[in-house]
Order: sequence, then C-alpha cells, then structure tokens
Amino acid sequence: MNELAVTPPYTNIELNSEEIQKLSEMVRSFTVFFVILVVVCCAALLAVVIALIRISISKQRQKESDEYASHIINAQEEERSRLSAELHDTVAQDLRVAVSLAKDESQKELLRACITEIRSICYELIPPDLAHERLSAAVQSLCQNFRDKNQLDVSLAILDDCESVLDSARFLDSQKLGIYRIVQESLSNIKKHAQASEVSVIIRREQKNEMSGLYISIEDDGKGFSKNSLVGGGGGGAFGQNRRHGHFGLQGMKMRASHLGGKLTVNSEKDVGTEVKLFVPLEQI
Ligand SMILES: Nc1ncnc2c1ncn2[C@@H]1O[C@H](COP(=O)(O)OP(=O)(O)OP(=O)(O)O)[C@@H](O)[C@H]1O
Ligand SMILES: [Mg+2]
Repeated sequence: MNELAVTPPYTNIELNSEEIQKLSEMVRSFTVFFVILVVVCCAALLAVVIALIRISISKQRQKESDEYASHIINAQEEERSRLSAELHDTVAQDLRVAVSLAKDESQKELLRACITEIRSICYELIPPDLAHERLSAAVQSLCQNFRDKNQLDVSLAILDDCESVLDSARFLDSQKLGIYRIVQESLSNIKKHAQASEVSVIIRREQKNEMSGLYISIEDDGKGFSKNSLVGGGGGGAFGQNRRHGHFGLQGMKMRASHLGGKLTVNSEKDVGTEVKLFVPLEQI
C-alpha cells in the first residue's frame, strides 16, 4: 500500500521575542479599537433611540393638546348655543310679557331696549352658519354691526385674493368658525377694554417661504395694556394664568389659532393701542 504524504496546511514561522511582543501589541490595540468602536456605536444607537422616544412623546403631547383644545373649543361652542337658546326662551320671553303688562310708555321703551340688547347677545353667541354663509360676508357683517352698535370708526380691508381664499373649500367649516371667533373676540376686547376711536381689520396674503399664508390683523388706537398687567406677568404662561382669573378671551384665541395650525400674536403698547395678529399657513389646510 502507498502511504499518502500529508503536508501540513501551514508554514512554520518562527518568531523571535521582539516580533511576538510587537504582534501582541498590535492585537491589543486592535482589541481596544474595536471595543471603542462598539461603545461608540452603542452610544450612537442609544442617542438615536432616545431621540426617537422624545419625538414620539412630543408628538403624543401635541396630539393630546390638540385634542384638548378641540374639546374646549367644541364645549365652548355648545355652551354658547345653549346659553343663546336659554336667553331667548326665558329672559326674552319674560321681557315680552313684561312689555304687554307695563302701563307706562317709558317702561315699555326700556323693556324693548332690553329685548333688543338680549337679541343682539343671542346673535353674538350662536355661531354663524358658515356651511351656507360665506366667511368673508360673515366677517364683513361682524365689522358692520360692530361699527353701528359702538359708533366706532371701523375699517375692513380684504386684500389680494383673500376673499376667495376665505370662502374656498380649503377651510373646513370649523376652521372658518375659528377665524370668525378670533375676529369677534378681538372686537369684543376693543369694546370692553380699549376705549379706542379707530379700529382697522386687514386681511392679506403673504408669500414668505415658510411664513406664506393668511394674515389677519385687528388693530386699535386705544389705551393698550402691558403684558405685565395680565395675571402671571408677561411670561409665556401669562394668558393661561389669566384664564384662571376669569379672562379666557386671549387664551381661547391662542387655542383656536393653534387649532388652525397657525399662530396668534398680541402686540400692545400703553396709550398707543393693540394689534392682534393671526397667521394661518395656507399649505397646511
Ligand atoms: N384691545 C385691548 N385694549 C386694551 N386692553 C386689552 C385689549 N385686549 C385685551 N386687553 C386686556 O387683556 C386682558 C385679557 O383679555 P381677555 O380677552 O383674555 O379677557 P377679558 O376680555 O377680560 O375676559 P373674557 O374675554 O374672558 O370675557 C383684558 O382684561 C384687558 O385688560
Ligand atoms: Mg376678552
């Protein structure tokens, strides 16, 4: 029988001690390098995971706060409609009976004036039917009524193609109502607090990259106010803290603006006037 000659698959390398030391140093530095690489990769992965968790938490918070805002806005609208119906069916009816019972003509006049006032409050409380009425027309009659009722110089300018934008289907009815209520609350604040003589409402459009959209400004030349006069001072939570003291208007406007995906800013200077500015991005709607 022939014996097979088996050659080892390796070559015999002889290393001296200096070379062995060099080799072991190389292995050590490679090991250190890989350990560092693994640690850096793990740290980067951890950072990415933490960032993703943070983004998802902030998205969740934003979603919750949007839902909360929309809940508050709907509840407010329902309450307004309920109040309007209640006022109409109780106080207004009672006043009508009182008119028929009153003997004195001056008493009747006074009672009729009360009925007119209550009717106007009911009208302000119920939302306009924006499914059938154009938003631009609703804002026009809001300004017209405000002008007639308060004998104030109110100008309204709807510039560019804003009339068709306001009336277009790009706004949901609830969003149209949001815009309407912001203008209404701004005018109501002017009546209640400003002692103004001139009011100007301007609706215009701007194309400024990320700030392109609709701008609605409601400006008065009244006594103005400093943000420090709001309960809680001028900090970011001032409007919120003010709400807890029975002033909900500005906070409600801010909520409605963020519900529109927009932003509300209030600039006011004592003895100069106040400007409420609503920005609504058009591409988001
Ligand atoms: N146009 C304005 N001119 C002067 N002061 C203003 C004007 N708008 C708001 N203010 C001041 O800001 C405060 C807060 O306004 P906000 O609308 O939040 O509450 P309110 O009008 O007092 O009450 P609510 O709107 O809840 O009935 C007002 O009390 C007032 O002092
Ligand atoms: Mg108010």
